[in-house]
Amino acid sequence: MSALLPEDRRWLDAAVRYATPFQGTTAENPAVAALIVLPSRQTVLARAVTGRGGRPHAAAEAIAAAGFEAAGSTLYLTLEPCQHWGRTPPCVASIIRSGIMRVVIGVADSDPRTAGASLAQLESAGVEAILADHAPSRALHVGHIMRHTAGRPHVTAMLAMSSDGMIGQVGAGYERHVGPAARQWMDMLRARSDAVMVGAATARQDDPALAVTLPGLAADTPLRVVLAGAGGIDRKVNLIGGFSGYRTMILAENSVTVDAPVSVEVIRVAGAEGRPDLGKAMQALAKKGIQNLLVEPGQRLVGALLDTGLVDRVVLLTGTSVLGPEAVSAVPGQVFTDVLAAQGFVGCEREALGGDNLMIYERAARPH
Ligand SMILES: NC(=O)c1ccc[n+]([C@@H]2O[C@H](COP(=O)([O-])OP(=O)(O)OC[C@H]3O[C@@H](n4cnc5c(N)ncnc54)[C@H](OP(=O)(O)O)[C@@H]3O)[C@@H](O)[C@H]2O)c1
Repeated sequence: MSALLPEDRRWLDAAVRYATPFQGTTAENPAVAALIVLPSRQTVLARAVTGRGGRPHAAAEAIAAAGFEAAGSTLYLTLEPCQHWGRTPPCVASIIRSGIMRVVIGVADSDPRTAGASLAQLESAGVEAILADHAPSRALHVGHIMRHTAGRPHVTAMLAMSSDGMIGQVGAGYERHVGPAARQWMDMLRARSDAVMVGAATARQDDPALAVTLPGLAADTPLRVVLAGAGGIDRKVNLIGGFSGYRTMILAENSVTVDAPVSVEVIRVAGAEGRPDLGKAMQALAKKGIQNLLVEPGQRLVGALLDTGLVDRVVLLTGTSVLGPEAVSAVPGQVFTDVLAAQGFVGCEREALGGDNLMIYERAARPH
């Protein structure tokens, strides 16, 4: 296999930056970016990202845009191109036909229908193919990789806290713990997720809409999922009975009563005491094409997800208010960040958002 050139990583970095805002719009396919670059001039001839809903694929779109000029160029792809017939023809065949001389791939596809086979196919057709093992491409496609290797989505738990580590007051319903800049950041993360999930208790007490309220991005509101408990769920809550035009799903254990309009999809999974088994609930979401799941949990749901090892990333937004010792903490009787550290989470990103503080924690080991 040929060597990676210094400019290759820069172009892959650019491809990842290009694809990032499209995350959350392409499920069940990953948001892949393709850049066709003229090597002699180091300029972009054409570029494309996976289309809304997963099609068309980025490589095929970029090749179509470049036309005959693609001959002799280099194609940068954040993910290995498909070499199977799905709902679109294989991208590898388009690449070979285009006259592209060199393909640099960020990360191999974990979809078993492709799984490294494209590289061999390109090489045997005389196209130089390089697997860069590019960490930002791996991070971009972590949900797709998890879906194919672990059979579940990549799970991010997002919590907003007071400065004394509390997530709410008993019986108070929805409260704002952070200011507008932090709330916009939270909205952006919703937009870039394939689904956003809350427990039934939060759906009832806070009655959220879970919509993306950023100007122009309402259509990027992800699938809204309510995890029903033993008490079931009914159409009195906004997420189920309110008219919004956004897709909603209920995940419920086989035996519980669910009262929902036909527009709400109800998925039944096995469980115990009226609560879905969380691992099975995640598998059901992966089967529906969800790659990146955002959970906005209360105390019980975050505890249950952490106990079952189903959280990959934690986003913590800490405001300036003080709720006092009678309020509800993220984990009863413990400092949340200590619990995260004990479970192997490490802080990997920190940012000030207005007067609030954003911290992102990830598990030390990531799937390969
Ligand atoms: N600050 C924040 O970021 C934030 C975010 C979300 C919520 N909250 C606050 O948290 C409060 C609600 O918290 P909560 O602890 O009562 O509830 P929760 O964390 O929202 O979730 C628990 C709910 O999920 C259901 N559930 C279904 N399957 C489950 C399973 N396998 N494991 C655990 N739960 C399962 C539970 O059913 P059962 O009824 O059968 O137990 C219950 O209805 C609200 O007041 C809200 O304001 C704060």
